[in-house]
Amino acid sequence: MTAKEQIGLDRRRGLDGSRILLGVTGSIAAYKGADLASRLTQRGALVDVVMTGSALEFVTPLTFRSLTHRPVVTRLFDVESESSMEHIALAESSDVIVVAPATADLIAKAANGLADDLLTCILLATRSPVVLAPAMDGYMFENPATQENLARLLSRGYIVVGPEEGRLASGQVGKGRLADVADIIGAIGLALGRNGDLAGRSVLVTAGGTQEPLDPVRRLTNRSSGKMGYALAEAARDRGAGVVLISAPTGLRPPYGTQMIPVTTAQEMMDAVARQAAETDVLIMAAAVADYRPSFAADNKIKKSGKAMTLVLEETPDILMEAKALGLIKVGFAAESQDLVVNARQKLEKKGLDLIVANDITAEGSGFGSETNRVTIIHRGGKMEELPTLMKSEVAHQVLDRVVALVSARPKGKG
Ligand code: PMT
Repeated sequence: MTAKEQIGLDRRRGLDGSRILLGVTGSIAAYKGADLASRLTQRGALVDVVMTGSALEFVTPLTFRSLTHRPVVTRLFDVESESSMEHIALAESSDVIVVAPATADLIAKAANGLADDLLTCILLATRSPVVLAPAMDGYMFENPATQENLARLLSRGYIVVGPEEGRLASGQVGKGRLADVADIIGAIGLALGRNGDLAGRSVLVTAGGTQEPLDPVRRLTNRSSGKMGYALAEAARDRGAGVVLISAPTGLRPPYGTQMIPVTTAQEMMDAVARQAAETDVLIMAAAVADYRPSFAADNKIKKSGKAMTLVLEETPDILMEAKALGLIKVGFAAESQDLVVNARQKLEKKGLDLIVANDITAEGSGFGSETNRVTIIHRGGKMEELPTLMKSEVAHQVLDRVVALVSARPKGKG
């Protein structure tokens, strides 16, 4: 077995290796469908694009063909096609179908089971999950006819992402803009993960660096960007878990399909974890929680006095220590600048963890702020696995692989 196989690095995850059918309909937002096709292809998905007749008025098949490196299908009866039953073949071979943008017309046809072109035939014939990303004029979206059609599709298990509020092509400001492409990709991950190895489980993730106020404008904090925690939340969602993300302030977009609870201080994070714990199977603490806070936060901005100033700090509550007695699976992180393994092991034992993910924050491309991380995973029984430098999304899946093994030994139910 190669080193890659040993840690499951060759395994296909989420979008990577999936077959996605992207339907594009006639909306001014059709050009954003090209961005979506490109990003899905870059993530390793095989993307088949089906364009409706009116989509051809806005963008060309060549655009999608160039981005996906695959033929683009536009007609129900294509004499050039290898398969006489193209719509059935496409409907059956796709892991997920996403229509982005989806016009009011497409939504109405799908809701009523019409099948007068290739895309609507596919929607009627498929048994795969369907994601719709509506884009239209605000009044068309608000119209009870559109709302009833969407409600009907939701009740049939469709995932509807967006639309967002904002300036529309008509000049009107309202709800009708295509969802952000990151959210559409999140919805595809959610759809693909419905039967994943964490389906039916609930995972609580903490992320970011807590901020401890000194006065109304100053805070003690650290360099955590939240990337590691957000990657864990997305990976758990893509494997079917219900995810609650308790996040200290970050500049990141909340991951689609997760429940986000924003907090600022260590105390707020601890209170939020305590409130969620009863509903949770797994707690993963990737947050960089302040160990100390100012013992006194001034009500008004502290003024310069011309003299040296001494800050008195007190310890914050330790969230993992408080969770020690709870019967959850507990995963901690250890951010260390020296004696990585010794210090991480001590934390694992002291805090009663099942796993600890030790990151050497002095290593290149590891720890705070980077897109990658270099970690050693230490198990409660003493087993230790040193991983190479990996994207944080892959580190997240590596951690979850170990969590799945622990979780599968327990009955479902809390989440
Ligand atoms: O956010 P990024 O920029 O992507 O960076 C990722 C990261 C470096 C922040 C992340 O990988 C990481 O290491 N997070 C834990 C950082 C940390 O606080 O480590 P620690 O060794 O101080 O704490 C050990 C564990 O106890 C952690 O799981 C921590 O969340 C938890 N803790 C710490 C203090 C406290 N008061 N309560 C806690 O529960």
